[in-house]
Amino acid sequence: MEKSLAIIKPDAVARNLSGDIISMILDRDIQIVAMKMRHLTVEEAKGFYIVHQDRPFYNDLVEFMSSGPVITMVLAGENVIQSYRGLMGATNPKDAEPNTIRGKYAFSIDHNCVHGSDAEDTAQFEIEYLFDNEDLCL
Ligand code: CMP
Repeated sequence: MEKSLAIIKPDAVARNLSGDIISMILDRDIQIVAMKMRHLTVEEAKGFYIVHQDRPFYNDLVEFMSSGPVITMVLAGENVIQSYRGLMGATNPKDAEPNTIRGKYAFSIDHNCVHGSDAEDTAQFEIEYLFDNEDLCL
């Protein structure tokens, strides 16, 4: 069973979109095996997105992701990394299909409502960064 790390970002939590986003995930037959609401510190956000540390948007991304509560989830299922990425839609909502989470709700590439792991190795890093093994209901 493949796993992926999903985050409902501060913009979507603040706009009360969490319920609909969680429904969209469950409607795809993706299992949620762990979930926690938390307010990331600047240091936690920096570490989570360390792979982007040399990108010009890194500081803004860290500031945004630590600006308010987020909902972090571990998703599980066959090909869940790709199926959840399909459900999220393109990183830039301008390119996202209307029936995707970002196509439906996101305003900009910076405030794009959701995050999802992009590969098995990043999923493992992200899950271990935010959850203990015993948190997972597998
Ligand atoms: P996310 O899937 O959380 O991964 C990194 C985030 O950086 C991405 O979503 C975007 O919200 C944000 N970001 C801002 N600018 C860019 C950019 N030019 N390219 C990719 N990601 C960007």
